[in-house]
Amino acid sequence: MVEERMIILGIETSCDETAAALVTEDRRILANIVSSQYQEHKPFGGVVPEIAARAHLNHIEFIIQKAFIEAKVSLNQIDGVAAAGGPGLIGGVIVGVMMAKGIAFAKNIPFLPINHLEAHALTARLTNEIPFPYLLLLMSGGHCQFLVVEDIGNYSYLGGTIDDAIGECIDKTARLLGYDYPGGPIIEQLALQGNSQAFNLPKPLVGQKGCSFSFSGLKTAARKMILENKEASPTFKTDFCASFQKTIGEILVDRCEHAITMALEKWPKINNLVVAGGVAANQFFRKCLMTCAEKNGLSVVAPPVNLCTDNGAMIAWAGVERFRKGLWGALDFAPRPRWPLEDLKNEIREKIS
Ligand code: KG4
Ligand code: ZN
Repeated sequence: MVEERMIILGIETSCDETAAALVTEDRRILANIVSSQYQEHKPFGGVVPEIAARAHLNHIEFIIQKAFIEAKVSLNQIDGVAAAGGPGLIGGVIVGVMMAKGIAFAKNIPFLPINHLEAHALTARLTNEIPFPYLLLLMSGGHCQFLVVEDIGNYSYLGGTIDDAIGECIDKTARLLGYDYPGGPIIEQLALQGNSQAFNLPKPLVGQKGCSFSFSGLKTAARKMILENKEASPTFKTDFCASFQKTIGEILVDRCEHAITMALEKWPKINNLVVAGGVAANQFFRKCLMTCAEKNGLSVVAPPVNLCTDNGAMIAWAGVERFRKGLWGALDFAPRPRWPLEDLKNEIREKIS
């Protein structure tokens, strides 16, 4: 197959998914291969950084080869290599970055180090081609924040969690119920069969000014409730999950109302609320946010579930967006365990000046 459009290879290794994808500049996903390390981490009840790094090393070559075979393109046809350069578990990030640098060096094509959060933030432009600016709710295992996406690399923070991330609260609660990481999908499933009015849980910061989140109080209350009621009734788990999920839905709606007001005050052109990150895979949360956004005149854009959780296509797409702006990286790029989105503004300024 001869491709006339730019093709970017995207590599994701920042947590527990080894992933590679090939994406074209005209928004076609030619291949998107994701290998979960679920089995490797299962005995330990969470992601073990050292095991993750070794597993990435073991799987990465095969996953990349598989992507090329599925896409029916050769290494000579790609125009650039993007890899998640952070934030994330550093051992894994190094594996992906070094692989990408190696390919870019060997083929003499640009290397594009991608901020993992920027990749989540831009996925909606791959799937729905939405214009800047838009309001973004990024919710994952390590993050929960509202940002205004003004341009590539230009993110304005409106508010976020002051303690735990939303996914962390969900995963730890699921663990207490006896379920392995990731806890989100099982809680969503169990909630479908339960009574959401059965339990009353706290909703920290709801009704208060701004759009910050706090999940540690909810996590502690959930823990107490589970330890006290675990054996109480056969429907405990389903009723609890339904109540827990409903509580988080109400928190999201309240915070979202505030974020929309804040965003529209400064950026009246915003038409879209984008929800991204692994927790955005939850259909109930999507419905809650949709109602809230529509009431306020915004449309909700949520990428398909397989593009919400970590994947290579989102990295490749961020690579396409950066490539088009000439924002290539250097081969001396150092992987970053911490890499706040707001830093990107300054990095671009330095590059251009
Ligand atoms: O973005 P992601 O794949 O990895 C990180 O960068 O963190 O997000 C993983 C998080 C986990 O906390 C997982 O439990 C959560 O996303 N998640 C969900 C669902 N699917 C994944 N949470 C709620 N409902 C889901 N269906
Ligand atoms: Zn992620």
